Amino acid sequence: MNQSEHTTTWKQLNDHLAEWVLASKAHTADGHVASYIPELANASADVLGICIMDMDGNTVAAGDTGYHFTLQSISKVFTLILALMDNGEEIVFSKVGMEPTGDDFNSMLKLELVEPGIPFNPLINAGAIAISSLIAGNTPAEQIERILAFFRNIADNPALDINKDVFKSESDTAHRNRSLAYFLKDNGVLDQEVDDVLRVYFSHCSIQVNCTDLARMALVLAHNGVDPIRNQRLIPRRFVQIAKTFMFTCGMYNASGEFAMNVGLPAKSGVSGSILTMVPRRYGIGLVSPALNRKGNSTAGVHLLGKLSQEFDWSLF
Ligand code: DON
Repeated sequence: MNQSEHTTTWKQLNDHLAEWVLASKAHTADGHVASYIPELANASADVLGICIMDMDGNTVAAGDTGYHFTLQSISKVFTLILALMDNGEEIVFSKVGMEPTGDDFNSMLKLELVEPGIPFNPLINAGAIAISSLIAGNTPAEQIERILAFFRNIADNPALDINKDVFKSESDTAHRNRSLAYFLKDNGVLDQEVDDVLRVYFSHCSIQVNCTDLARMALVLAHNGVDPIRNQRLIPRRFVQIAKTFMFTCGMYNASGEFAMNVGLPAKSGVSGSILTMVPRRYGIGLVSPALNRKGNSTAGVHLLGKLSQEFDWSLF
């Protein structure tokens, strides 16, 4: 995109984003806040906030932009990148596959049904648990510190931290994730103890952010691993390519095909109602709206991104 296209887009966003947010907000009524993690049930169902950041760090934001939430599954994109940086592709892809499942994000069906019993991809829960075990560190505490340091650097926000209430709530009620992890242990995917791996997994899911943090993190992916604001490479190009490919094929779970058709951008959702997406080589985008559809994606968030993609012809196709 040249400078004049950017100027036109930016003006349109400044003029209309608030009104588009208002229109999409009506779709919060079509969804429900996640409640299987009790602490997430306290989220406000009618919130919708979005932040769009350009390569100079300018932002256009609208709606409930001060709202704080936890990364949940969005964290899986960045732990995948960190695991790749720590181990390389060969080791990572001996523990997780590269294919979408078509099943729910917390499904364990294919772990037993399909040989060799490794998770289909790193963005479903089973895959992300396997990835957590690959983060460098001698103890879970060291692994968690490493993840926090990496996320703080990508978000350019040293204050990012774990929301302890969400962590505890998630840990206390994670019966399904525990069964997934025991299954993985039995299949030889996890080297460490199940409780240790899960502590790392729950911790990164519970890192608290706002829309600006998400947009900032997305900006680095949009620019293929270079932070355009600090003019610094933070992630090798190849690992961003891998992460964005998974976001495109699996990032919105078993609604990834529909999202690819209607929005056409790499994206990752979390059960906090958050979505991180980007316009490649242009903008980082972070949004939150906790009311979810049946597949675990934000109803108003998906609607708003569809509107933006249509308005600016952002689809990659
Ligand atoms: O393990 C879980 O269930 C959550 N910590 C993360 C799931 C999630 O965000 C799925 N996203 N749509």
